Amino acid sequence: MKRTSGSSEKKPKLTKFDRREFDSAPCCAYLADEDLLRPARQPMTVFAICNHKGGTGKTTTAMHIAGALGLSGRRTLVIDLDPQGFLTRALGIENPAERESVLALFDHKIDPSTIPVQSLSSFDLLPSSEALTRKMRELNKPTDVLWMKESLEKGLGDSYDVVIFDTAAAVTVYSLNALVASRHVLIPVLPEYQSVVGAEQTYQTVSMVRNRLNPRLQPALFLFTQVDARKGIHKTYRSYLREKYGDQVLDSIVRTSTALSETEKDGTTLFDHNPRARGARDYANVTDELIQRLRSSEDKSSSSTSSPSKAGSPPTPQEAMNS
Ligand SMILES: Nc1ncnc2c1ncn2[C@@H]1O[C@H](COP(=O)(O)OP(=O)(O)OP(=O)(O)O)[C@@H](O)[C@H]1O
Ligand SMILES: [Mg+2]
Repeated sequence: MKRTSGSSEKKPKLTKFDRREFDSAPCCAYLADEDLLRPARQPMTVFAICNHKGGTGKTTTAMHIAGALGLSGRRTLVIDLDPQGFLTRALGIENPAERESVLALFDHKIDPSTIPVQSLSSFDLLPSSEALTRKMRELNKPTDVLWMKESLEKGLGDSYDVVIFDTAAAVTVYSLNALVASRHVLIPVLPEYQSVVGAEQTYQTVSMVRNRLNPRLQPALFLFTQVDARKGIHKTYRSYLREKYGDQVLDSIVRTSTALSETEKDGTTLFDHNPRARGARDYANVTDELIQRLRSSEDKSSSSTSSPSKAGSPPTPQEAMNS
């Protein structure tokens, strides 16, 4: 796969991410971790970041997990499957040529392994294209959910340890493509009513995709984002999801952090600018936990199935305030 620079004027420097920067970092997975790189002929780790509700931190999560993975030495490719392309824009890439965007993966005539990717500070990006919206009207056959899976089989991502799909807040042919191609799913969720409802609907979609289209898909993991410990309702919704889904909810959380929303648009992430910021520390811990979780599930030969431990709906905002 050819690489092009994401920012022609100012090529960002690769900063080695040093976990010793962090005072109380619990993890060790970042340092001298060459042994965790994908051994030859082993499948790469492929995961999708989804939540049918908007604004839950999907793009921020894709960008910072990719940043942490890249800086820890893992060859990481992010594929922006959101037609609105916020990730692409946050990384400073405006209107990429269609032939050099994710759109090219939906063209039989193009060999996926020849599509150039943008080489950024610590990971590579296959950018989104505004033309994805127009293209969606043509993608109406049942087999149109298979494009990403087939692209990976034809060599897209062959030189990477991890491939991450960022998706839009909707069930579209693009998000289904991401789920059909992935082994894992991460659902970023704000501990608030609408986001939790969206997260549970996404969980159901993941189960449906596993049953009908992709038996290798593991049960989804939930990640709490934009957590504010002072808010009582955040506690209520965190308890609700944890009681219902148990250890499918990551222990690590991402707290609110203004620094996370201030991107430099030059292909860098918060890890490059301010690795001590709360948002960087949180995503470092999330990535550590994710690596451990994915590795233990990859060790299992077949997909495990899991269902919520109890039924029920999330408390309404009124009930959450009164609890
Ligand atoms: N931990 C955080 N603290 C503060 N702001 C955050 C945090 N995470 C994300 N944000 C901000 O919240 C907004 C939504 O985040 P983001 O774009 O990552 O969500 P999304 O789920 O990808 O949204 P969409 O559904 O529109 O694609 C952005 O302005 C982002 O900068
Ligand atoms: Mg997004």
